[in-house]
Amino acid sequence: MARKPMMAGNWKMNNTIPEAVVLTQEISNRLKYEWEKVDVVLCVPYTALKPVLTVLEYDKVEAKVASQNVFWEEKGAFTGEVSVGMIKGVGCKYSVVGHSERREMFGETDETVNKKAKALVAAGLGAIVCVGESLEVRDAGTTLDFVCAQVKAAFAGLSVPEAQKCVVAYEPVWAIGTGRTATPEQAEEVCAAIRAALAAQFDAATAEGMRILYGGSMNPGNVDMLLAQEDIDGGLVGGASLEAPSFVQLVQACLK
Ligand code: 13P
Repeated sequence: MARKPMMAGNWKMNNTIPEAVVLTQEISNRLKYEWEKVDVVLCVPYTALKPVLTVLEYDKVEAKVASQNVFWEEKGAFTGEVSVGMIKGVGCKYSVVGHSERREMFGETDETVNKKAKALVAAGLGAIVCVGESLEVRDAGTTLDFVCAQVKAAFAGLSVPEAQKCVVAYEPVWAIGTGRTATPEQAEEVCAAIRAALAAQFDAATAEGMRILYGGSMNPGNVDMLLAQEDIDGGLVGGASLEAPSFVQLVQACLK
């Protein structure tokens, strides 16, 4: 794998501050790796960002911290929203944007995903851009067109250096939290198509350098087969990131 792998844990709406601190300490105790070989990212609830970072800094663990969402406006009357400047100020290097749960439950669209990605890169942060098809789309046989259109929309208007800051996470909706993982071949087919779409939008070298993660019931039992695929550069993991042993096994899989 020429690209540096990334293993990102998406905690979703889990872990109070004390729980987050304990989990981060457990992960940190087990992570004694060569940081130049893998990027570890913890995507944690807003309330836990600072406590998690404090633990990582204290333990000198070079894992990065990301928010799970962000708003594109700088400041103002947007009750309940959190700006890019705010997460940057806390120490985030990335934010997840366009997670399927946000698209499905909170009205996230390709347009708002694009606005969020633009705001992040303008501030020097990276976006972890989530894309993925529903079961209906897969059954209709239009997965590649659907996912590539999501990628194109998310990256519209970004420059090459801005796109290079970002990561794409392919998460088939039918595989999230269901225990039903895409087969390595299914995941690779879509990730290769995503890379081709990025090459068409930017250029081949840019697409070759960008990381594409797989997400959807990734666990220590299936990670090796998924990471063995040419266009899969790591994972965005939900359930298996909530326990230190399984998450650390996924990080270790990136070092093989
Ligand atoms: P699970 O790993 O729990 O399926 O969740 C995947 C996901 O949505 C990560 O963002």
